[in-house]
Parts: sequence; C-alpha cells; structure tokens
Amino acid sequence: MRGMKWLGLTGAVAVAILTWGFWWGEPAVKQPVEYPHKTHVQQLKLQCTGCHQRAVKDKAAGLPQTALCLACHQGEETSSQEVKKIRAFGEKEQEIPWKRVWRLPPHVFFSHRTHVAVAKVACQTCHGAMETLDRPPAQPLRTLTMNDCIGCHEKWERSDEKGPGPVKAMAQRVSTDCNACHR
Ligand code: HEC
Ligand code: HEC
Ligand code: HEC
Ligand code: HEC
Ligand code: HEC
Repeated sequence: MRGMKWLGLTGAVAVAILTWGFWWGEPAVKQPVEYPHKTHVQQLKLQCTGCHQRAVKDKAAGLPQTALCLACHQGEETSSQEVKKIRAFGEKEQEIPWKRVWRLPPHVFFSHRTHVAVAKVACQTCHGAMETLDRPPAQPLRTLTMNDCIGCHEKWERSDEKGPGPVKAMAQRVSTDCNACHR
C-alpha cells in the first residue's frame, strides 16, 4: 500500500511538471536594452539588413554590434536611460548581450541566405511585423511549424512545371524530403 502511495505522488508530480510546461510555454525574454524597432525602421527608414547584415550571406541573420548603435547614439548629453546603457557597454568595449528569441530545435537546418538572398522571401513572412514594435518582443511574433516550412516548399515545387527560368531553377532546389531540413 505504501508503494501505491508513492506511485500516486510521483504521478501527480509528473502531471504538475507537464502542465506547468504547457501553461507557461516558452520563457519570456528580457533584453538588456529596450530597443524600439519602430523608431529605427519606420521613422529612420533603416533597412532590416542594415543591422542584420549576415542574413544575406550566412546561415544566421546576426545581431548588430555596439559600435553600430554608437555611430548614432554617441556624443551629446542624453537623458535616456537606455542610451546611457548602450554607452556604458561601449565604454567597457563590450557587445550588448542580446538574447535569442527565435530558435529552431537543433535537428532542423535553416539558412537565412537561401531564403533572403536566393528565394527573396520577406523577413515579415516568417517574423511578423517587427517594424511596428516599440520594445523588444518577449516572445516570437509568429513561429514556423514544420507544416509552414513544408507548405511553402510545396508551393514552389508545384510552380516548377510552368515557371520561367529563375523560378524553375529555384523550384528544382526546393525540397520536401525529410533530410533536406533534418540533417
Ligand atoms: C542611423 C542612426 C541610428 C542607429 C544606427 C541607431 N539608432 Fe537608436 N535612435 C536613433 C534616433 C534618431 C532615435 C530617436 C531619437 C532619440 O531618442 O535619440 C533613436 C532612438 C533609440 C532608442 C530610444 C531612446 C529613448 O529612450 O527614447 C533606443 C533605446 C535606441 N535608439 C537604441 C538603439 C540601439 C540598441 C541601436 C543599435 C542596435 C541603435 N539604436 C541604432 C538613431 C539611431
Ligand atoms: C538599427 C538596427 C536594427 C534594424 C534596422 C532592425 N533590427 Fe531587428 N534587431 C535589432 C536589435 C538590437 C535586436 C535585439 C533586440 C530586440 O529584440 O528588439 C533585434 C532583434 C530582431 C529579431 C529577433 C531575433 C532573435 O533573437 O530571435 C528579429 C526577428 C528582427 N530583429 C528582425 C528585424 C526585421 C524584420 C527588421 C526590418 C523590418 C529589423 N529587424 C530591423 C536591431 C535592428
Ligand atoms: C523563411 C523564413 C525566414 C525568413 C524569410 C527570415 N527569417 Fe530570420 N529566422 C527564421 C528562423 C526559422 C529563425 C531561427 C533559426 C534557428 O534557430 O536556427 C530565424 C532567426 C532570426 C534571427 C535570430 C538568430 C540569428 O539568425 O541571428 C534574426 C536576427 C533574424 N532571424 C532576422 C531576420 C531578418 C532581418 C530577415 C530578413 C532580412 C529574416 N530573419 C528572414 C526564419 C526566417
Ligand atoms: C515563403 C516560402 C518559404 C518558407 C516559409 C520556407 N522556405 Fe525553405 N526554401 C524556400 C525556397 C524558395 C527555397 C529554394 C531556394 C533555392 O533556390 O536555393 C528553399 C530552400 C530551403 C532549403 C534548401 C536550401 C538550403 O538552404 O540548404 C532548406 C534546408 C530550407 N529551405 C529549410 C526551410 C525551413 C527549415 C523552413 C521553416 C523554418 C523553411 N525552409 C521555410 C522557400 C521557403
Ligand atoms: C522544410 C523543412 C522540413 C521538412 C522537409 C521536414 N521537416 Fe520535420 N521539422 C521541421 C521543423 C521546422 C521542425 C520544428 C518545428 C515543429 O516541430 O513544428 C520539425 C520537427 C520535426 C519533428 C519533431 C516534432 C516534435 O514534436 O518535436 C519530427 C519527428 C520531424 N520533424 C520529422 C520529419 C519527417 C519524418 C519528415 C519527412 C516526412 C520531415 N520532418 C520533413 C522542418 C521540416
């Protein structure tokens, strides 16, 4: 009987852990500086790839270095606590420790270069309207499930039959094979 009681308790703890995970989902991300995408993209008209430069040539899109921020945020007196934080990182010659928000499981291969530079898919298709944010997102604005990835790849595969040259060539390189993404 004693054994049964323990079994029941372990079961209850397991259920609690599972539902906890289910309810709380991904932990909310708190960034070191309250960076507003809106000001920089909508008002200053900076390009996404001006700060996320690696997106056109690499697997990762990359996050900007402190020096890039300081190019505009150094100099005159500022009353902004957030700008003061950027300068403090600059004085210590440190990179701002930005945290990752979007992350695929390690068994999935994904390259920004292929999608941004070759297929010319807009950042917003996968990331949502980043340009509207006045503070860093605590969670991804939208996430891609396996079916979202495959759905777009299937569309491209079908366009193979009638597409013009470059579209046809791209459609031949797009794949829905498991090992295209799981390597
Ligand atoms: C091309 C110039 C430019 C670059 C590059 C730039 N900013 Fe800005 N930023 C501005 C301007 C202009 C404003 C609006 C006026 C202000 O608040 O200084 C602003 C506003 C801000 C604000 C709001 C300040 C407040 O408290 O109101 C933050 C935070 C900020 N920027 C962070 C950053 C970070 C972090 C980077 C680097 C990733 C960066 N900026 C790169 C020009 C720039
Ligand atoms: C002035 C520089 C700057 C520009 C321009 C800029 N970003 Fe960012 N981006 C940042 C910084 C700094 C962060 C980290 C803080 C945050 O999440 O807001 C970031 C974070 C992100 C992230 C989250 C990455 C992660 O860690 O998972 C995405 C996605 C993103 N940006 C997309 C875009 C898109 C799309 C555009 C154009 C519409 C854009 N960015 C324009 C500086 C910039
Ligand atoms: C086809 C979908 C797709 C497109 C288009 C796309 N991204 Fe991403 N992005 C992702 C995925 C998926 C991740 C997570 C990748 C991982 O964990 O390996 C990611 C991660 C990121 C990150 C954080 C990690 C890193 O790579 O540095 C940034 C920043 C980012 N994207 C910015 C951008 C910007 C800017 C653009 C447009 C120039 C863009 N992305 C276009 C799907 C996309
Ligand atoms: C909106 C359309 C679209 C979405 C969404 C999309 N892809 Fe693609 N993907 C493409 C196209 C088009 C190509 C072919 C580009 C070329 O010609 O090389 C491609 C090629 C690839 C390739 C093969 C080329 C390489 O980089 O090795 C992989 C792997 C891949 N995608 C993974 C993914 C994953 C993982 C996701 C979801 C997180 C995703 N894709 C979402 C359109 C998309
Ligand atoms: C175009 C890219 C792509 C292709 C093709 C693809 N997957 Fe995935 N797969 C993903 C992504 C992205 C994830 C992670 C997101 C998710 O779980 O929805 C994933 C997740 C998974 C997972 C883990 C699910 C989980 O709950 O953790 C399994 C198992 C899997 N895929 C099997 C397959 C098999 C089998 C095939 C071939 C029939 C396949 N995948 C083809 C992109 C792809």
